Amino acid sequence: MKTLLLTDPMPAGYFTKAIHALAPDVELIEYRPDISDAELAEIEVVLGWRFPPGVAARLPKLKWVCSVAAGVEKLLVPELAPQLPLSRIVDTEQAEGIAQFVVLMALRHARGLAVYEAQQIERAWRRQPVAAVRSRVAVLGTGTMGGAVARLLGVVGFAVMGWSRSTGASLAALLAASDIVVCALPLTPQTDGILGARAFAQMPRGCYLINIARGAHVVEADLIDAVQRGHLAGAALDVQRVEPMPADDPLWNVPGITITPHIAAQSSPETIAVQFVAGLRCVQRGEAPPQTVDRARGY
Ligand code: OXD
Repeated sequence: MKTLLLTDPMPAGYFTKAIHALAPDVELIEYRPDISDAELAEIEVVLGWRFPPGVAARLPKLKWVCSVAAGVEKLLVPELAPQLPLSRIVDTEQAEGIAQFVVLMALRHARGLAVYEAQQIERAWRRQPVAAVRSRVAVLGTGTMGGAVARLLGVVGFAVMGWSRSTGASLAALLAASDIVVCALPLTPQTDGILGARAFAQMPRGCYLINIARGAHVVEADLIDAVQRGHLAGAALDVQRVEPMPADDPLWNVPGITITPHIAAQSSPETIAVQFVAGLRCVQRGEAPPQTVDRARGY
């Protein structure tokens, strides 16, 4: 079964090497913008991060799509046949890495580290009153990522509350009772823009946002406004609506907003290769692949 690698912005070579170390027989084709219709017509499997525009419609023999990530929204294009299985990576090590990043940013905020970073620039040795962290954190999303985040935040002393859309619990009430809000939701049409002006107004003054999910969960102009007005204390955004973030993006220059380039944690090519090859063997035997998403729900 020929597999097309659509891993950009990660170079496909990492995946070729990791997959061939496990399964040298797997036929891998690295995508090129000039790839011919004849080559695409033979592809039965895609391993990727996103479909370049129009490519999904040129894959008449496609039988299975496997994401290189936990989130699959960039592969859920309308051209995919409705019954086609789409699998994702489930990586508890990545979830631990994400949780560490969230704890880092939550503690940095709650312990007021930015104040001392600014003081150091002024060479000012000034102590402020300090207490152990007890802040209330709302973790939006209770899947593999959200669960790991909630557990680790609890270990370091935060009072953690989880929320998912499926419980029907009031998001407004939860936001109103939070000092920090962490977004670990899947991106679906229902969660696109969920953190906008209305949600920010529901958060108490001084609340802090951490986003490790997808940039499109946040209405960035509304966030900038809420931070600049002093309603929100700031935000740590590991993901942004446009990635890579352009040099002229207004998010770069907002005091209180920390930008990192989608590095909270990644699955390694080796982990992805193990899960991909196991799934591919299922498909080759005519069995259903594991870790498929519910296409209607989007995760
Ligand atoms: C993912 C990611 O979804 O890395 O796994 O963003």
